[in-house]
Amino acid sequence: METFYVTTPIYYANSLPHLGHLYTMIVADTTARRKRQQGIETFFLTGTDEHGINIERAAKRAGRTPQEQADYVVSYYKQMTAQFGLDSEHGGYDIFMRTTAPFHYQGVNELWRRVAAAKTPKGNDALFKGHYEGWFCAACAAYKTEDEYVKSENADEPPRCLIHETPLDSISEESYFFRLSDYDEALLELYDSRADFVRPESRRNEVASFVRGGLQDLSVSRLSTSVSWGIPVPDDPAHTMYVWFDALTNYITAIGFGNEERQKAAGFEKFWPALHLVGKDILRFHAVYWPAFLMAAGVEQPRGIVAHGMWLDPNGRKMSKTLGNTVELDALAKHFSVDAIRYFCLREMVFGQDGRFGYEALIDRANSDLASGLGNLSSRTLTMIARYCEGRVPSGKISEDKLLLAKRTGVDTDETTIAGFIEHARDEFQIHCDNFAFSRALEVVWSIIARVDKMISDAKPWDLAKDDNQRQTLNAVLYRAAETLRWLCVLLYPVMPGASQNIYAQLGLPGSLSTIDPGGLRWGELPENTQVGEITPVFPRLDKARTMTAIKTETEPTGVHITEAEAIPGAPTLVESAPTQPPMIHASQADAIVGVANFIEIGDFAKVDLRVGEVLTAERIPKADKLLLMSIDIGEEKPRQVLAGIAQYYDAEKMVGRKVVVVANLKPRKLRGYESQGMVVAASYGEEGKPVIATFAEDVPNGARLK
Ligand code: MSP
Repeated sequence: METFYVTTPIYYANSLPHLGHLYTMIVADTTARRKRQQGIETFFLTGTDEHGINIERAAKRAGRTPQEQADYVVSYYKQMTAQFGLDSEHGGYDIFMRTTAPFHYQGVNELWRRVAAAKTPKGNDALFKGHYEGWFCAACAAYKTEDEYVKSENADEPPRCLIHETPLDSISEESYFFRLSDYDEALLELYDSRADFVRPESRRNEVASFVRGGLQDLSVSRLSTSVSWGIPVPDDPAHTMYVWFDALTNYITAIGFGNEERQKAAGFEKFWPALHLVGKDILRFHAVYWPAFLMAAGVEQPRGIVAHGMWLDPNGRKMSKTLGNTVELDALAKHFSVDAIRYFCLREMVFGQDGRFGYEALIDRANSDLASGLGNLSSRTLTMIARYCEGRVPSGKISEDKLLLAKRTGVDTDETTIAGFIEHARDEFQIHCDNFAFSRALEVVWSIIARVDKMISDAKPWDLAKDDNQRQTLNAVLYRAAETLRWLCVLLYPVMPGASQNIYAQLGLPGSLSTIDPGGLRWGELPENTQVGEITPVFPRLDKARTMTAIKTETEPTGVHITEAEAIPGAPTLVESAPTQPPMIHASQADAIVGVANFIEIGDFAKVDLRVGEVLTAERIPKADKLLLMSIDIGEEKPRQVLAGIAQYYDAEKMVGRKVVVVANLKPRKLRGYESQGMVVAASYGEEGKPVIATFAEDVPNGARLK
């Protein structure tokens, strides 16, 4: 039997879950449910990352032992998974993995021993003892290079992490190192040979360019006098393993790597390799370090690594407990159904891109797409079947002459057209979901809803019902609407399990949607005469003003809820460092130059290689309010990575798909640690120099030159 193994990252046990954590779980849960529907034996892992200095510190602040701290946070995660229907009881995860589990210790020890005995592809020892000197961010659990921190103005103060804005720890001690620098070629070969190893493609390019930039050996232990809350290095308990070595290994220990009993219960042989779902902020650990550890240990590589974007607050900053701008799960759960939240997360966030969270947008989607869209289609269809057909699904058969008659009045009840449309939509939906393009997949489903809504409105069943001669047409319209609903339930089950199953039951259909493969749907298999069930509203309409007021008063002024365990004392907000010169041409500056230097020759202008580009991805970068990081297709084999100082005026999401003008032969330069391989052209005006991006009124292919 085919198997599939999907994982979320395991969450730090230092602070309580928020929307960002919930999102990864929703994506994983949806993916697992789709696979199960297809009859694939699926294992879904989530859990907590419980070791390390960050947990040790959170515990100390809260007056708990590290284990108590971990247990405390785990209880909240368990509560969240139950509340949002993600636990095993609701058909969600198969294991809630904890890195303090004894079988995990055994497995990690086994991996360490294998790495310690391994030679690198370049023939050196994979593990060696050395001395580490540098900066470490406890919140990221990562060593930081110069382009990853901001130096303090006061020389006595440590630099601060660019992501968390918290002070870094200075480290100077003996350490075990993993010889990562010897794995560059092997990693690049892996990315080359397996195009889908890291997805989306833009992330794969990013990872490959990081590796091409040169890898440094990685410190994989701390002295146990500095960090005691962790797994001791085998045969050398003076050292504690680096928490990422321990944490990443959970993906294999959970299914029995290094532990016979666990292997029998879960099945390493059966389920490995896994597909890892991660936020883009932890991609490097998964796509560079983890594959290299596995290569050293001689373990098969993961099935793939899929990175999603970040939920941002309304000001465009990544939501995080450290920044205190998270969306509270209690407020979400109180005002919105689980299905509405799942739908919103998958529909609103273009997968791989960052997305801004707003309660208003959530209410709008819940009202328009769910209450007025799917909910209304369901209730009107079922109510009409109850009213006009004594609650039984009528026959969908319609004679040629009635069909023609209906067509002449603008009503398309032709079975083959509808069946063809819906089958095609189903296939597109599947492809988009396979590519994690949930937003597009759901757009496709809503195009089905629009189509059937139109059929009903055109047909006016309430008028048809008044004329006995129109009985067949009435029945045909209602059958098609009901059959479409059945398909919608099957397709939408992984996204909205509760609501879909509810509509399915109201349609009078028995059994669970969890095992119905959308690929096996055949038009017309909804049995005639099915007795519809009790009709109840599935998506109640929300009063926007009242809901917003309630949310505002319930959440604290900042919309944040920080418990004593999460508050990080002494973490003032960073002052934005001097803005980096945005890589753009400003028309006003150009004018000034013309004024000074007079005319240029055409040959001078020809030196500037201006090309038509299309923005493929766009996102903000941490701690740079003005910069957008984009990948732009300018007709070359690979898209260009370009930074532009437009983030204050252009939403990242809205840039995707836009045609822009790119200076293609500008010398690449590094900004905030990212290489900018071109420049986006914009006009600028007003005192602030507001940028307005140059674009085209007509269609033009990517790569076309401007001359
Ligand atoms: N413990 C590590 C992962 C180890 S996996 C072997 C960790 N934990 S975390 O709790 O900080 O983050 C877990 C996941 O939550 C990451 O995928 C991260 O991207 C995700 N998110 C945290 N904040 C987020 C947003 N604001 N938006 C979307 N996802 C975010 O990293």
